[in-house]
Amino acid sequence: MKKYIKDFEIKENISLTAQYSVLKLSPIDGQMPKTLPGQFVQVYVGNSRNTYLRRPISINYIDYDKNELWLLIRDAGEGTNSMIKSPNGSILNLIVPLGNGFSINNGHSLLIGGGVGVAPLLYLGKVLKERGNEVSFLLGARSKCDLLLLDMFSQYGNLFLSTEDGSMGEKGLVTQNSVMQTDFDFIQCCGPKPMMMAVANIAKERNIECEVSLENMMACGIGACLCCVEDTASSGNVCVCKEGPVFNINELKW
Ligand SMILES: Cc1cc2nc3c(=O)[nH]c(=O)nc-3n(C[C@H](O)[C@H](O)[C@H](O)COP(=O)(O)OP(=O)(O)OC[C@H]3O[C@@H](n4cnc5c(N)ncnc54)[C@H](O)[C@@H]3O)c2cc1C
Ligand code: FES
Repeated sequence: MKKYIKDFEIKENISLTAQYSVLKLSPIDGQMPKTLPGQFVQVYVGNSRNTYLRRPISINYIDYDKNELWLLIRDAGEGTNSMIKSPNGSILNLIVPLGNGFSINNGHSLLIGGGVGVAPLLYLGKVLKERGNEVSFLLGARSKCDLLLLDMFSQYGNLFLSTEDGSMGEKGLVTQNSVMQTDFDFIQCCGPKPMMMAVANIAKERNIECEVSLENMMACGIGACLCCVEDTASSGNVCVCKEGPVFNINELKW
């Protein structure tokens, strides 16, 4: 897919909690690039020596009618902190779109997200639903206040929630949620690696096709620096930024 280096204006920076914000961006030239769910952007945050490398952020949601691209940002350090503090009207430069994206399957998909890993699943759920598929979301977090954008997720599928402290949904990890006992045609997952490995094990045991989106450390984001490699079953070491970030679990040597 053609990649663009483009300036976007922050139309709205919505603070969801002290740690999380949604940035609603519109391309300055009015031309929204075509993107796929699961692809990501590289955000330029050039205001300090520590942030000269762009930061990879998943495409959270695209509204082609409003010409908006959303990023869900968790304040993890200097780069993401600068993003969540950017005021409405300021400009972010993005490389967009990067990576491969999730498969758009026909059937009932369970989309499992943990923490900020829920980000790409909103756009994925929207596209799956628009193609006439049944979608269920299983979203997990430490606590109620870390479960984000629930009103948006519920527009596109059934919602199942897990929190570690039991403040919302079922108490425990997503893999302990009772919906995991239900039958699904596909599982697609993004979150912390231990969570994705546990989900992958369950999917393998139950013979459910499963994709996960890896968040390996990245620098260039375009397959040039080799800092994001993952060892795969059929192709050996591949760049997650280019061949991923989405992989079928049968491709991973977990
Ligand atoms: C494909 C992909 C999609 C991502 N999507 C999102 C998203 O939608 N929303 C979001 O908030 N974050 C996302 N991340 C993580 C985000 O890129 C990192 O949190 C960010 O780069 C940290 O930069 P910083 O300057 O804020 O913090 P730094 O000070 O650079 O680092 C702070 C902490 O974040 C960790 N970190 C740094 N870079 C990465 C990285 N590339 N991947 C994982 N952890 C990292 C560091 O180990 C450190 O512990 C994604 C990462 C990848 C690879
Ligand atoms: S981040 Fe440079 S090759 Fe993947």
